[in-house]
Amino acid sequence: MNRYSIIVLFLNFCLISSFAADEEFAPIINLRHGKVRGLVRTIVEGDQKTKIHFYQGFRYGYANRFEKPMMVTSWPGGIYNATKEGNSCIQFGQPFVEKPTHESEDCLFLNVYKPVTNDKKLLPVMVWIYGGGFQEGSIFFSMYDSAHLASYGEVIVVSINYRLGPFGFLYGGDNNAPGNLGFHDQLLGLKWIQENIENFGGDPKSVTIFGESAGSISVSALIQAPLAEGLFHRAIMQSGAVISTLFDNKDVALRKTMKFAVQLNCDIQDNEQMVACLKTKSIEEIKKVVMNGSDNVLSGKLFSPMYGDEILPIKAILYENYHNRVDLIYGATHDEGSLFIILYYPELMNDKNTFTMEKVHEMISSLMSQINAEKSNEVIDYYTKTLNASNINEVRKVIGRIIGESMLLCPTMLFGQRMARDYGTSNKFYSYRLDKRSAAAGKFGCLFEWMGVCHGQDIAYVFDNLAIKSSPEDLKLSHEMMKAWTNFAKTGKPDKVGSIEWQQVYENGHKDLASVMLLNVENRMDKGTFKELCGFWENIYS
Ligand SMILES: *[C@@H]1O[C@H](CO)[C@@H](O)[C@H](O)[C@H]1NC(C)=O
Ligand SMILES: *[C@@H]1O[C@H](CO)[C@@H](O)[C@H](O)[C@H]1NC(C)=O
Ligand SMILES: *[C@@H]1O[C@H](CO)[C@@H](O)[C@H](O)[C@H]1NC(C)=O
Repeated sequence: MNRYSIIVLFLNFCLISSFAADEEFAPIINLRHGKVRGLVRTIVEGDQKTKIHFYQGFRYGYANRFEKPMMVTSWPGGIYNATKEGNSCIQFGQPFVEKPTHESEDCLFLNVYKPVTNDKKLLPVMVWIYGGGFQEGSIFFSMYDSAHLASYGEVIVVSINYRLGPFGFLYGGDNNAPGNLGFHDQLLGLKWIQENIENFGGDPKSVTIFGESAGSISVSALIQAPLAEGLFHRAIMQSGAVISTLFDNKDVALRKTMKFAVQLNCDIQDNEQMVACLKTKSIEEIKKVVMNGSDNVLSGKLFSPMYGDEILPIKAILYENYHNRVDLIYGATHDEGSLFIILYYPELMNDKNTFTMEKVHEMISSLMSQINAEKSNEVIDYYTKTLNASNINEVRKVIGRIIGESMLLCPTMLFGQRMARDYGTSNKFYSYRLDKRSAAAGKFGCLFEWMGVCHGQDIAYVFDNLAIKSSPEDLKLSHEMMKAWTNFAKTGKPDKVGSIEWQQVYENGHKDLASVMLLNVENRMDKGTFKELCGFWENIYS
């Protein structure tokens, strides 16, 4: 861990808002398989106080290691006390976000945030899927506290834990360890919502999934997944989409597992025996091997989703079919890649270091080979034509742009634009870029001005995080975004952001220049913003 991640870690501890639950119980709800008790929480927004009912840490499933999860069908005591945090899944990333709750393989929990309304009408449901590179994340992080969003937008918000790292994505060659388990967990959570959310007053026919980073990639995977049919009706992708260069095919996934097994002294002659052996290893042994020299999400060495299975058939990853035709908001932040400079390029953080053009070219080539993209010469050409390599500020910006634009921004934009082109007549599509650097950016790891609007900055706005309340401009944008997000969940249309109408991506059937909402102090619609840039990357990927 370098010194910057320590800073980030420290800052995030300051964020954790201990919302002292007032220990007043919410009404007991009858679920399909039993009863659940929650808490009443009071939300303070300005001088307004509202109450929500919070069912926290409810177990939706069980899973054996490397196996598909099973739905919970009973619990002891008759009434499930969903009144405290549950376990987080085992984490494998750098500790640059909040400290998770107790880590355990037994982690299939969800939270339900239910606004208190007099209305008898069923409320739309939004389902949050967290990010963290498929290596870390937890619904119990305070930055994902959805109480404000649920209350402000009058929607039910559910957040679901899913398994991570090898526990979420190890592929063992057959059904003993079928891979993509994190996605199977998400699917089970969505099934649980279909079976139970009406009892909370939620409408199972109006489910919007939304997620950021790996959560957004998950959302796009669920859009593609035949198994997710009928489980949701709208989707919001915040910075990330499935892209073949970041996913493994089955062969690569199995080879990763074998390498891992060898390091854990497991015999790899027979898949079944290999998986059986891996099941006997302790969490500590597994963590040690996973974290040995490959704790970089850009390295491609970590366990990650794969394609070619029942969740992501080959056709899906080639965009030959978008299985689940849903309304979609997709977008990204202005500077997606800058955060990764802090995490993975310490040499770029020392202002005294000097670089040559040769060195910069080397860095770009190595980055491209890490993400299995060929044609690194074209990338070098495109990004360094006007670069002054002896200016470290320019170098870090260029490396950050390449990371962010190749892995996050353009995959997201291309995914949404393709889908909008194909299904624009049957569904509605909206796109955005977040251009406002929040006053509290530093608290989210976006420490320096040159980093701009970092990856993940949208989270604080969407959840009206405590940290942004110090700036009236940030608070205003947060309210505008929450309004648009929840309007979309209700009707499939975000309507206005502030005073600006959010137009569809191809508003008048014109399929050349995509429209995008630029979210800022003054919002505005723009056209063709990413045409040249993402056209370049589309050519690199293909
Ligand atoms: C659940 O909470 C209630 C109220 O505090 C308590 O009476 C009950 O014993 C708890 N049940 C379990 C299974 O812990
Ligand atoms: C760590 O990785 C190195 C190089 O890949 C390997 O030689 C070593 O055995 C690994 N250590 C552990 C504890 O797995
Ligand atoms: C390149 O950057 C260095 C360091 O900031 C500066 O001294 C130099 O003048 C710049 N060169 C050009 C051609 O702008």
